[in-house]
Amino acid sequence: MKVLAINGSPHESGNTRHALNVVGKELTDSGIEFEVLHIGNKMIRGCAACSSCGKNRDEKCVLTGDDLNRWVQRAKEADGILLGSPVYFAGIPGTMKSFLDRLFYVSSSNGGLFRQKVGAALVALRRSGARQHLTP
Ligand SMILES: Cc1cc2nc3c(=O)[nH]c(=O)nc-3n(C[C@H](O)[C@H](O)[C@H](O)COP(=O)(O)O)c2cc1C
Repeated sequence: MKVLAINGSPHESGNTRHALNVVGKELTDSGIEFEVLHIGNKMIRGCAACSSCGKNRDEKCVLTGDDLNRWVQRAKEADGILLGSPVYFAGIPGTMKSFLDRLFYVSSSNGGLFRQKVGAALVALRRSGARQHLTP
């Protein structure tokens, strides 16, 4: 059993990583493998909306210049995915958004690569922006 945690902060050892480690300790104490993937300090461009991932059906994004395709496979291999992000202006940082847009598009265009996995998310913030707004 393995959980892959995503650190969406530019800081490798900041508050987001600290919060991930708190969860990670509980998991490892329960015999679950825990790995952190730090993407928040990477140059990750946004989705080009070319839909090639759906046309090619090869579990790949055609954009080059980052390791998105390797990260897709790491997420696919994990049993659980924990998304960790700081709050930037009541949202997630642009890098994290670019990462998630492409990760999810490749997944959903290829039959749902993360189906049946356990998912969870945490955020680190200074003041406000953690509340989830649900519309009916
Ligand atoms: C550009 C920017 C925007 C931010 N916007 C918010 C915000 O809207 N609300 C908030 O509470 N904190 C905000 N913060 C503070 C961070 O969310 C907070 O310091 C967080 O703990 C940083 O996590 P890290 O140490 O993992 O990078 C912002 C920080 C930055 C750099």
